[in-house]
Amino acid sequence: MTQLTKRASMALAAMLLATGLLGAPQLFAQTHAVATTATQNAEPWWKHAVIYEVYPRSFQDTNNDGIGDLNGITQHLDYLKVLGVDAIWLTPIYPSPQVDFGYDISNYEAVDPQYGTMKDFDHLVAEAKKRNIRIIMDLVLNHTSDKSPWFIESRSSKTNPKRNWYMWHDGTAPGPGHPPNNWQSDFGHSAWEYDAKTGQYYYHKFYIQQPDLNWNNPQVRKAMYGVERFWINRGVDGFRLDAITTLFEDPKMRDDLPVLDANGKQKINEFGDPQLNDTMTNNLPEVHDVLRELRKVSDSYKGRNVVLIGETYLNNIGDLKKMYGANDDELNLPMDMQIGFINKLDVGLFRQRINEAQTEIDGNLPLIVFDNHDNERWDRYGDGTHNQDIGRVLATILFATRDTAMMYYGDEIAMVTTPPTRKEDVKDPVGITGWPKNKGRDGERTPMQWNDGPNAGFTGPNVKPWLPIPPSYKQSNVKTEVADFDSMLNWYKELITLRRDNPAIKDGKNIMLNTSDNNVLSWLRQAPGQPAVVVACNFTAQPQKVSFDLSSQGITSKQAKTLMKTPGSSDPASLDSVNLPPFGVYIGQVQ
Ligand code: NOJ
Ligand code: CA
Repeated sequence: MTQLTKRASMALAAMLLATGLLGAPQLFAQTHAVATTATQNAEPWWKHAVIYEVYPRSFQDTNNDGIGDLNGITQHLDYLKVLGVDAIWLTPIYPSPQVDFGYDISNYEAVDPQYGTMKDFDHLVAEAKKRNIRIIMDLVLNHTSDKSPWFIESRSSKTNPKRNWYMWHDGTAPGPGHPPNNWQSDFGHSAWEYDAKTGQYYYHKFYIQQPDLNWNNPQVRKAMYGVERFWINRGVDGFRLDAITTLFEDPKMRDDLPVLDANGKQKINEFGDPQLNDTMTNNLPEVHDVLRELRKVSDSYKGRNVVLIGETYLNNIGDLKKMYGANDDELNLPMDMQIGFINKLDVGLFRQRINEAQTEIDGNLPLIVFDNHDNERWDRYGDGTHNQDIGRVLATILFATRDTAMMYYGDEIAMVTTPPTRKEDVKDPVGITGWPKNKGRDGERTPMQWNDGPNAGFTGPNVKPWLPIPPSYKQSNVKTEVADFDSMLNWYKELITLRRDNPAIKDGKNIMLNTSDNNVLSWLRQAPGQPAVVVACNFTAQPQKVSFDLSSQGITSKQAKTLMKTPGSSDPASLDSVNLPPFGVYIGQVQ
């Protein structure tokens, strides 16, 4: 098939499926064949997978209360299948007062009625399984809700058996206003909350309503490993471990150190607090003991290949490497936040970080992430003129490097960050505390844009969605984009298909090319006995011409077959001269 007809047929298949004209089994025949090959290779399913983060509140509302639900996710499984998704990470769906939209859990073994029932959950897992899609739960181990029965007991008296499940301490003087030390919440102000009933303070790394658990207490560990088993027994195939680096704090309770500017002056953060580094409250070595224990539990389900993914914002590749465990006995996939969150199109930095992830983590597979529900969407890289092209560059880095890829709902249709414009509209308390410098995270959590009709198809026409639908839904929506060969959606589908079907792109070595080029990021994918693939991404607003000499990789041919390229650009006659439009992409298979 020529490139155009292949793309056209993919777009068409998706369109037919979306409109219900094509039966799912016809499309799935091919998928099953792929699954069989994967089983024969005996590689854990999560290697090279595409993991799609769903923020359930914002995906699809089926009961017209303006809030997305589990049945809404089930409804779109065929869409996700056609896109090429292997697993869905669900942000928390447990019962919760929703202060932090689910990250404040009051019961770890149930489903919040806002999102549905346990039956709905089982149905989602079963329907996903039929399509070879796995479900990954979000496991929040650092803290519970203050409405958790555990915390209610804990705060009831100093002698309650659950007192020591949380981090209680005396202040530096009796009464409020004298916290034990200077530790700060990531969401602003002191991390210590005074509790008048017992005259002590409790520690909360996040909101006041999210008291930290005491991970030195064996009973806490036992309870949480029980939660892990509960969901594996229910059919989930992995966990995304929330805030996993923050489980422990300095036992000596030493103050965190101030961050100073170039003139030695104390920096102030966006909440108006002194900026501190968090060495006393983040990434303490004890975290690794817990990771090994969690892994023992998940690995005890032989043959299930339950994956442990970590939310690991770390400063350097050495720390990321440690998260896999010295004996591959900790996280299967700690998130690499060092590439996707560079947040500027700096060729040198991307090259360095991608190379580190390929060569300095003991041959483990990196989990690359550009987007999630806590950060401005991909358009933070935009220049306002070439955003779509820049989006293609980012997707190419995500899917055409050697990795497991994690994407966020809406990335594939180029949904953009749409923050509230008035403080009174803000839902995320971070935005209320930080307004106007920090508008919170609502902007990246707006409802999925399914079509160009009322409420973008997210909820009923006369319903007020929990967050407003961004005006961009008229152009950026699934229905419009399946029908447009040059849409972001079709770029995503093509890349995901390529990484599944092309052995070099799937698991070939990832070698950075033209390493002195400050304008174009290029790399080679090379698998034994397979044609090599070159990838080039123009990081500038000017056309660029690149030339590849692959002789040091044992490749003398200058001929390449185009696998993908920016719409409208031309095929190069030779690898000596590849012309890239502004922010253009070229992927070619060496002949
Ligand atoms: C990280 C989650 O992704 C974020 O949304 C949440 O607010 C914090 N952890 C606290 O649980
Ligand atoms: Ca609903």
